[in-house]
Amino acid sequence: MRVLTGIQPSGQLHLGNYLGAIRQSVALQAKADDCYYFIADYHALTTVTDPQALRDAIRGVALDFLAAGLDPEKVVFFRQSDVPEVQELSWLLSIVTPMPRLELAHSYKDKIAHGKEATHGLFSYPVLMAADILLYRSDLVPVGKDQKQHLEITRDLATKFNLRFGEVFKLPEGYIPEEVATVPGTDGQKMSKSYHNTIPLSGSAKEVKKAIMGIVTDSAPVEAPKDPETNTVYRIYKLLATPEQAAEMAARFRAGGYGYGDAKKELLRAYNEVLGPFRERRAQLEAHPDDVRDVLAAGAARARVEARKTLDAARRAVGLD
Ligand code: TRP
Repeated sequence: MRVLTGIQPSGQLHLGNYLGAIRQSVALQAKADDCYYFIADYHALTTVTDPQALRDAIRGVALDFLAAGLDPEKVVFFRQSDVPEVQELSWLLSIVTPMPRLELAHSYKDKIAHGKEATHGLFSYPVLMAADILLYRSDLVPVGKDQKQHLEITRDLATKFNLRFGEVFKLPEGYIPEEVATVPGTDGQKMSKSYHNTIPLSGSAKEVKKAIMGIVTDSAPVEAPKDPETNTVYRIYKLLATPEQAAEMAARFRAGGYGYGDAKKELLRAYNEVLGPFRERRAQLEAHPDDVRDVLAAGAARARVEARKTLDAARRAVGLD
């Protein structure tokens, strides 16, 4: 079983990304025969407009995944744009892509509805994504819920191409991992960069402390018994602590005499315990940028070998041999 997924470098990742996507993708490396994980920088160009911001985000994603334990032996880890074959395959797929299929894509329509310019890049985004998936003959593609339709489009394009030109592509399955429960942000809404309620993953100790101490709570006095399930400090704590530790904090809140300030300190302790090793590894990697570059270059070289095989088969099938 080959697992493939793309990660968009669209800004600094936060605790919500770690507890959701990063940790799960890294855990999958033990279950798959091989994994192809790539930084979807071509895709990011449809939303990131500042070149330096893009460079920083690419580097940040690479550091985050390597620090989280991605094993570059097991996982072919690379930058999408280091394998330009994907662009040619994208063109070959565009030949069988019905315009209305793209015009109706939710993600495209949402972006336009939010005032983004209707560019061709945004429009053909799902075709490039199909090329990513089909180029590496992936079996399983873990994605977020919002990407489900893009996977359906991928399967449709593969089927149409195979019908017209012969069996070139393998049909992938999407896999939408159960959310580890939505990670709440410091204001209780879903943690998201656009809500400005994130707890950083790689920021300074001071920034982390500031975010945790700034979690919004109600004004119940220390003595009052409190419902743990409706308070954000506990809801975040539960995702980081052991079940025993979480049960203990819940009991303290229910009993009364336990204030939010103390709970925040305990949350900070749990954060440091769970993320300490990650943060240390990330700092070490950051001090050796050449090592990270080497990992991505080696990954790209391995990816290109696979990419070439599929692209050649597709070229032969359409008559470009
Ligand atoms: N569109 C995906 C996202 O925003 C990123 C992505 C690009 C991707 N190519 C992919 C994911 C191929 C899975 C497979 O999350």
